[in-house]
Amino acid sequence: MSEEELPLARPVIGTREEQLVLEALRSGRLSLGPRLEAFERAFAARVGARCASAVLSGTAALHLALRAIGVGEGDEVVTTPFSFVASANVAVYERARPVFADIDPITLNLDPEAAAAAVTERTAALLPVHVFGYPADMQALERLGVPIVEDGCEALGAAYADGGPVGGRGHPTAFGFYANKQITTGEGGVLTTSDPAVKERVDSERNQGRAPDMDWLDHDRLGFNYRLSDVACALGIAQLERLEELLGGRARVATLYREALAGIDGLELPCPDRGEARRGWFVFVVQLPRGVDRDRTVLALGELGIPSKPYFPAVHLLSYYRERFGHREGEFPVCEAVASRSIALPFFPEMTDGQVAQVAEALESVLSRARAGAGRSR
Ligand SMILES: Cc1ncc(COP(=O)(O)O)c(C=O)c1O
Repeated sequence: MSEEELPLARPVIGTREEQLVLEALRSGRLSLGPRLEAFERAFAARVGARCASAVLSGTAALHLALRAIGVGEGDEVVTTPFSFVASANVAVYERARPVFADIDPITLNLDPEAAAAAVTERTAALLPVHVFGYPADMQALERLGVPIVEDGCEALGAAYADGGPVGGRGHPTAFGFYANKQITTGEGGVLTTSDPAVKERVDSERNQGRAPDMDWLDHDRLGFNYRLSDVACALGIAQLERLEELLGGRARVATLYREALAGIDGLELPCPDRGEARRGWFVFVVQLPRGVDRDRTVLALGELGIPSKPYFPAVHLLSYYRERFGHREGEFPVCEAVASRSIALPFFPEMTDGQVAQVAEALESVLSRARAGAGRSR
């Protein structure tokens, strides 16, 4: 990569990460070693959870969470269509049906009223996603009286409306550590829970269905290989040590963006924190002014050296979901309108003031050209 090329995301990896990973490599304990438990303990403490289980990905954490609360064939899981595809896929893994409900136009999270309307006698779980690191309205969702699995894959460092950290509410909550996340282990995830029985089942199922006291190669349930290596856990421990610095860097960049983009007519920025709720900054997603062609904007930004991505496409309109479940446009109008206008801009903790200004100027010029073009064609 040349010096001037601006990435969409970039992890911060320093000498502490190198040191702990090297120690793990030299220890000879590359999997199921002491770093697994150390990472789990540190993570649980950070989010105020009783238990944590480290697994191979955020998707694996969500999958095992649904299994742990008993979701199975023929069940329904009420969730948001405005998410990364994994939050719906995990229901399909268990031959359950993801039932989508529309989103709140401000927070972009599952709308509790729409979720309530989607609950039936077949609903086995609610699966709210804390989209772009902003906490879903958990108090309203909890009032529906349905077991909950939280997708906190984008929300490490976020706080709920009552000020408590996301992941510490007791429901099984999944976090993900892909390279664009608040902390990374390359690939990886954690499931937090207040229930030791959930942890016991998850720990067994991530390890091919083996109970901790069982002999090698004795398995008492169906399991998977969802283990996270000790090398990845060593990276996770070092990243967790600097979480506040990483979150602070992202919050700083978000403030710069807000200032730089404030004057662009019709552009909608991520909602500000309300009450005690805190966003755990993950991405900076803007909604383009109405009537602007999203895909052309992405291309035009790319020509100016600014990477951006449509983010998210609505899950129910992905080709697999259309074909498998017969979804069509118009079912979830708020989600579809938001998805058609949303792009993620470059965003990472070490982004400089100059880089933010470069993105803002490029976006401003692309949008004013689009407006001029629209004016001419009228
Ligand atoms: C909302 C959401 N859910 C689930 C996942 C899945 O996490 P992973 O990629 O670690 O499997 C992601 C990751 O990008 C995500 O953003």
